[in-house]
Amino acid sequence: MADATFDLPRYWLAHGTRIGWFLGQYLAAATLTGRVAPRPERPAPRLGRLLADLVGLVRQDAANIAAGLYRQPRDLVKTPADWLTDAALYFSDLPVVNARRRRRGSDEVPARAGRRGLPDYYVRNFHFQTDGYLSDWSARLYDQQVEVLFIGGADTMRRQALVPISAWMRRRRAAAVTMVDVACGTGRFLGSLRENYPEATLIGVDLSRPYLEEAARHADGASPPLLMQGAAERLPLADASVDVISMIYLLHEVPCDVRQRIAGECARVLRRGGRLVVVDSLQYGDMAGFDGLLDNFPVAFHEPFYASYARDDLDGRFAAAGLQPRGTRRAFLSKVFVYDRE
Ligand SMILES: C[S@@+](CC[C@H](N)C(=O)[O-])C[C@H]1O[C@@H](n2cnc3c(N)ncnc32)[C@H](O)[C@@H]1O
Repeated sequence: MADATFDLPRYWLAHGTRIGWFLGQYLAAATLTGRVAPRPERPAPRLGRLLADLVGLVRQDAANIAAGLYRQPRDLVKTPADWLTDAALYFSDLPVVNARRRRRGSDEVPARAGRRGLPDYYVRNFHFQTDGYLSDWSARLYDQQVEVLFIGGADTMRRQALVPISAWMRRRRAAAVTMVDVACGTGRFLGSLRENYPEATLIGVDLSRPYLEEAARHADGASPPLLMQGAAERLPLADASVDVISMIYLLHEVPCDVRQRIAGECARVLRRGGRLVVVDSLQYGDMAGFDGLLDNFPVAFHEPFYASYARDDLDGRFAAAGLQPRGTRRAFLSKVFVYDRE
């Protein structure tokens, strides 16, 4: 149902402030970082093109909220003190990240990170970030790093997963629905799910204990999600026990064979009639003029499995696992994939 209380001018003011704040940091970070990857053979889009596309995403977000597909997020803009603290922490870490980037250091996850039981492909400095996914410091910086990378558009891209979820939820009672966010990270999307479905049972699964602890710190105290440490390719969940799975920015970070096992696990834990919504990077050929960006991203941000992801046939993989592809939709630098378990 359309949201008659939605204040569009206020929304644009808040979102414009957000984009301006993160654009400033994006430009400052780019200047401090300099060129770290060879110039791509295929041209990458210019900043103006990216910003125009980002505005298109925001326009879509506003239309979704006005149409009542999901609620207006509460935290488009943080307090100045919170934003300044996030930025100060981010820029204090950036020189270390850049030094690691220059020496291509991707195996600098400290032993204290407790790597036992974690897959080898996972224990590395993804994005050249300090401690990979394996420290409180990394968990504290992660959301800020991602928002700077996407010029304030990361949460907005994640929110596009709510569109196919809201279509699926029509005529269903949230209180009877179990939703799992696989690779939930610091819990940004769990927060969106809770805002929109206060009565649903929510579960977050991730391999990183520090990220789960960060997610717990930000969770709604009145009805927090159940947070479980576990691998997406061996979900700690019973067969046919889940109605909706979301999986955001995971598949580009795992090897091909693991991607296939994850598809199998999603099919195993979904109930008949259940839905999987994936949000991940654009792939080659999705957007004219963007392939150069996809060439460069894994070099500048240590992503060893990204090139295979960007060429992967995800629909084929998920169909082979027993999930029916229901289409994809682009959202700025991301893409939303929908699969149903019939
Ligand atoms: C790029 S982050 C995305 C996090 C979150 N979904 C978001 O939207 O910000 C990738 C996340 O996947 C987790 N991860 C990576 N490999 C995993 C696996 N095999 N099983 C479960 N979690 C995994 C990492 O710990 C990290 O939190």
